[in-house]
Amino acid sequence: MIRLEHVSFEYESGCPVLDDLSFEIQEGEAVGLVGANGAGKSTLLRAMLGLLPCAGITVDDLPVVRENLSRIRKKLGYVLQNSDNQMFMPTVFEDIIFGPVNYGLSRQEAAQKAGEVMEQLGIQHLKDRYNHKISGGEKRMAAIGAVLSMDPEALLLDEPCSALDPCNRRRVIDLLNSLPVTKLVASHDLDMILDTCSRVILLSEGKVKADGPAYEILGSRKLMEDNHLELPLGWQSRGRTGNC
Ligand SMILES: Nc1ncnc2c1ncn2[C@@H]1O[C@H](COP(=O)(O)OP(=O)(O)O)[C@@H](O)[C@H]1O
Ligand SMILES: [Mg+2]
Repeated sequence: MIRLEHVSFEYESGCPVLDDLSFEIQEGEAVGLVGANGAGKSTLLRAMLGLLPCAGITVDDLPVVRENLSRIRKKLGYVLQNSDNQMFMPTVFEDIIFGPVNYGLSRQEAAQKAGEVMEQLGIQHLKDRYNHKISGGEKRMAAIGAVLSMDPEALLLDEPCSALDPCNRRRVIDLLNSLPVTKLVASHDLDMILDTCSRVILLSEGKVKADGPAYEILGSRKLMEDNHLELPLGWQSRGRTGNC
């Protein structure tokens, strides 16, 4: 569904942030994107959305170029790393219905969709709260709701569980696992990646350092430690020591 062919990008000339990346994500795959701070994870997600000028990416065979962006963004639901940049309507409810109304649903249909999503996420109590008066974790849940209400074909999630309490984190994990859509999840929460993704791509300095089954990559103590990461806690508590 998402294909990268020799994708490179630099914010400042001479400093490549994405460095000749080539890989494919098939429809229905759930892929974790991991790597140290500054490895290029958020940049890669932004490039897939067409938010950065960068050649070589296609989504459902549509090149990510200006004339295809509205079609591509309808397919891809994007949860930003910083929810303050995502929520722009006054209340949570208005934000969650904004997408569906924009895509042609009546206000009543959009309200019904928003109700379903808020119930799935357990955030009905936030419905009429002002976005600028809720906590970071509440805002993150609302931002996830705003994306899910648009029924995207694929989810690009940038640190979806950061700021979430354990109960909300678990709710998001269970919800992600119940959705049969394509997922690309950038996170340092490697237990969450292990719970939601069957494949992991490890980025290092804008290059793919490893790409393979989640249990294999996340279970390699050497790969993890070489990249500022740790074996997932669940892995450690199961008494595994890593396969390095
Ligand atoms: N808007 C920007 N302008 C210049 N450099 C940036 C910008 N955004 C990110 N970078 C740099 O690009 C690199 C990759 O950043 P990012 O994709 O955010 O990494 P990650 O999400 O893996 O932590 C980092 O070195 C970061 O400092
Ligand atoms: Mg990031």
